[in-house]
Amino acid sequence: MSIERIESVVYGVDDLDECARFFVDFGLELVEHTEDRVVLTTQVKQRLVLKRNDDPTLPASVEATPGIREVVWGVDSQAALDALVENLRTDREVDVDQDGVAHTYDETGFGLGLALTDPVQLNYDPRKYNSSGRVERWNQPHTEITDITPIRICHVALNIPKEGRHEAVDFYLNRLNFRATDIVEPMGVFMQVEGDDDQHNFLLCHRPDRAGTNHTSYEVSGFDDVIEGGNHMIQKGWREARRLGRHTVGSNVFRFIHNPAGGRVEYAADMDRVDDTYGPNVHAETPPHHIWVLETNRDTPAPNTSEGTALP
Ligand SMILES: [Fe+2]
Repeated sequence: MSIERIESVVYGVDDLDECARFFVDFGLELVEHTEDRVVLTTQVKQRLVLKRNDDPTLPASVEATPGIREVVWGVDSQAALDALVENLRTDREVDVDQDGVAHTYDETGFGLGLALTDPVQLNYDPRKYNSSGRVERWNQPHTEITDITPIRICHVALNIPKEGRHEAVDFYLNRLNFRATDIVEPMGVFMQVEGDDDQHNFLLCHRPDRAGTNHTSYEVSGFDDVIEGGNHMIQKGWREARRLGRHTVGSNVFRFIHNPAGGRVEYAADMDRVDDTYGPNVHAETPPHHIWVLETNRDTPAPNTSEGTALP
């Protein structure tokens, strides 16, 4: 009985139509677009919900700018959900709505929901790669990727103040049974939910020393999708936030785009999968952000030529 996954992420936004366009371009499926609300889904039917900043049905905001108001976690049974709610009610109010979704707040003030999950079992075809001794693609050219469709929201990263950071993390570890996988003392704590095996599903990052939206990450089918997804977003006029690279903690290949709904979104592939024999690894110093990032000097003049200035 456990929390299995992120069930939905709810944002309060300035411009509903612009944010809807952003997430459609990003590859999510639009399932509802009204005056007041936009709902999009991943392939496994997690929901991304956008509402206007001043919508009274939204949980209170921890930041002045648009951003995440609530993360709803998917629980695998009604009994487990009831037990979690009963525990949370020992020290905070929990409202259960007409759909059976429980709503409360975490230690930082972010909205926190719990819902019964009904994961879609995907029978999708992951990108196949060939190398000598390991051939995944026989008699089959690599075809053009016409649509990037994120498989799932694989993690959410929230910023928190330094003061109270231990209580903020302990709430998830002790009350929701998350597991710390990597504790980066100067930066934040990476956590995994009980029912998943990604190296992290959640990050509470205290480095910025204020509460706010950091990013949401979406798993795509392969490296090509990370690259092509970013290319597609750039072509649609959205702004890249980081160069393509591969993270150190979690090992995922990443590409980040600035999100008009708040923070950034990440296309991710090849995240480490870990079980409870992994960690928690305690890092007294922050590991390098990435193993590699894309570098190019293609567009800068070469030194020692008539095009450029010789280096000293
Ligand atoms: Fe990430």
